[in-house]
Amino acid sequence: MIVDSHAHYDDEQFDTDRDDVIRGIQQQGVIRVVNPASNLNSARKCIELSKKFDILYCAVGIHPHDAKEFSDEAVNIIREMALNDKVVAVGETGLDYHYDFSPREMQKQNFAAHIRLARELKLPLIIHDREAHGDILDIIKAEKGYEAGGVFHCFSGSVEYAKTVLDMGFYISLGGAVTFKNAKKPVEVAKYVPLDRLLVETDSPYMAPVPHRGKRNHSGYLTEIIQKIAEIRSDDFDVIAEATAFNADRLFGLGL
Ligand code: NI
Repeated sequence: MIVDSHAHYDDEQFDTDRDDVIRGIQQQGVIRVVNPASNLNSARKCIELSKKFDILYCAVGIHPHDAKEFSDEAVNIIREMALNDKVVAVGETGLDYHYDFSPREMQKQNFAAHIRLARELKLPLIIHDREAHGDILDIIKAEKGYEAGGVFHCFSGSVEYAKTVLDMGFYISLGGAVTFKNAKKPVEVAKYVPLDRLLVETDSPYMAPVPHRGKRNHSGYLTEIIQKIAEIRSDDFDVIAEATAFNADRLFGLGL
């Protein structure tokens, strides 16, 4: 049993063969996927897909890249969409200071509004944090984001940062980076995170793990990531697969 806590099947890279891919991953043992939205259009698409495929659940929100789209009206639309049964989280949201595709002030406002919404709706947050640790923590503290809880996806910080995030009650999700040859911090973090606070993800179609690096990613490749984490922790594949599946179920409520 494998649960992918973060994949984007609404992405246009799946437009030609989406149904086949989603059927295929089920044959590879994937029993649930959480599909976070990137913006309002993507959120609508995610909800449609989650109605079509039993294994697919979704999060609604505006990615920091698309924070330009943020407005009070947008928050109202997200609130409305969150009423759907298959919506299990708010996101993905956060800050991305690596690409800076949206002005930082907009990203901060967008993130703060998503935290307030998650608290109001009692849904967990899916947080994207790229080179923005300080501001992420400041905004979480100011808006009491720890009351909503959630996950730091594609965690890229140090063990010290992991400790800070875990102390606030968040889960940590690891993806393809843990398999990369030059991986140092993700490997240390994979060893450090308590087994009951760890999630795994592909971030498909991005971030394909070794030996598929550079290809379009899909949830079937999660086996490479779980295998690598199992090696790092000197544990069995099944132990990691099962624990991360139950953790995702505990956080999101995926009916397992
Ligand atoms: Ni993502």
